Amino acid sequence: MNNVKLYLVMMGLPARGKSTLAIRLREAFQKNRIPARIFNNGNLRRKHLPIKETFSADFYHPQNAEARLLRNDFALINMNRARSYLAGAGQVAILDAANVSRARRMMIEENLKDHPILFIECLNDDDEILSLMIEAKTKLPEFSRMPSKKAQAEFLKRIEHYRMIYTPLREERNFFRLDSLQNRIFEEKLTDKISLYLLIKDILVTDVVKNLFLIRHTQTRHNVIDRIGGDSTLTAKGITQARALGHFFQRHEISYIFTSNKKRTIQTARAIAERQKYCKVISLKEFDEINGGICEGLTYKDIEKNMPEVFSARAANKYHYAYPQGESYAMMKPRVETGLKKAFFLNRHAENIMIVGHQAVNRMILAHFLFRRDDDVPYIYIPQDQFYHIVSTQNKKLFELKPYA
Ligand code: F6P
Repeated sequence: MNNVKLYLVMMGLPARGKSTLAIRLREAFQKNRIPARIFNNGNLRRKHLPIKETFSADFYHPQNAEARLLRNDFALINMNRARSYLAGAGQVAILDAANVSRARRMMIEENLKDHPILFIECLNDDDEILSLMIEAKTKLPEFSRMPSKKAQAEFLKRIEHYRMIYTPLREERNFFRLDSLQNRIFEEKLTDKISLYLLIKDILVTDVVKNLFLIRHTQTRHNVIDRIGGDSTLTAKGITQARALGHFFQRHEISYIFTSNKKRTIQTARAIAERQKYCKVISLKEFDEINGGICEGLTYKDIEKNMPEVFSARAANKYHYAYPQGESYAMMKPRVETGLKKAFFLNRHAENIMIVGHQAVNRMILAHFLFRRDDDVPYIYIPQDQFYHIVSTQNKKLFELKPYA
């Protein structure tokens, strides 16, 4: 067996990020001058079968014998193509399909014996991410003539049909079981010698951020009078700034803008989205500003005067100090990290990702990339007339603060 060449087999229920991960793997291999190609069963099916045969969830029911034979045929075609690819100049053949049953995986093992096989199981059960992914799936060609709600229902049924035959990876000789939202490996098994093993492991756990535009909401009524927290709207100046952002980012294609649940970030994001061809604003609670507890809506002066113990305790240890009934920076860290993972997951296909956040939230996001000492994080500079542009891939790191007007 030649262990320089490899079959990578994706596995997981629909909408778990298999295809996006397959693309990420291919891109990373190519950057490392390793010829790699994806063989996607769904794409093959879409090419050869009329839409009317495959939009219904019935097509994916395990007891639909006729459809099962057809789906196995497509799997076999791709296996044969993958084998020929590796017999030639190819080094990694990525088989992208659900492959959730042990029977299907045995068929793969039977057919591909010339090189090792490494399976990658993608797991993710976050309800919010799933519903956003499913909404995106309804843009697939097979749903083109169906109202979005009906398409979503069919897709959910399709997932349930796959779940009926789902067997987690266990018997297979080599595998990773991956939390595809958190980029975290749960479990791994390595029986064969696989020369690319370390590179693959590194790719699986690395966040790839091609371009992150990190923006703070523009000026609000509360900002002018120095009040913290709350849910105020933009001032006239803030609206002008938001429009300038919209104008500036017209030259970039932004598919999603992630905001908090607060009016000020949504209002800023909408002014940017308005100038894009297709752009969806997604509000995540994980990006809400630090909760000021009993100090919400007060000015820093009020706090200093009326609650001097709060003021001085926070000044003494700003990162760890939690407002009474509120949060500290340290407490925000896990939720902001989860928000980031969600944003990266949903945005994986796109070149650009945009987040419109708040002062404290943006500091935590920057800290994720900057590895600042905790004590310094609450003092990172977050202006409202500039934005941060961040690139963080395996081969490139970039960090710039730029004006937009
Ligand atoms: O003042 C704007 C604001 O976003 C407040 O809502 C928030 O409490 C504060 O910034 C966070 O900054 P700091 O941690 O420096 O008080």
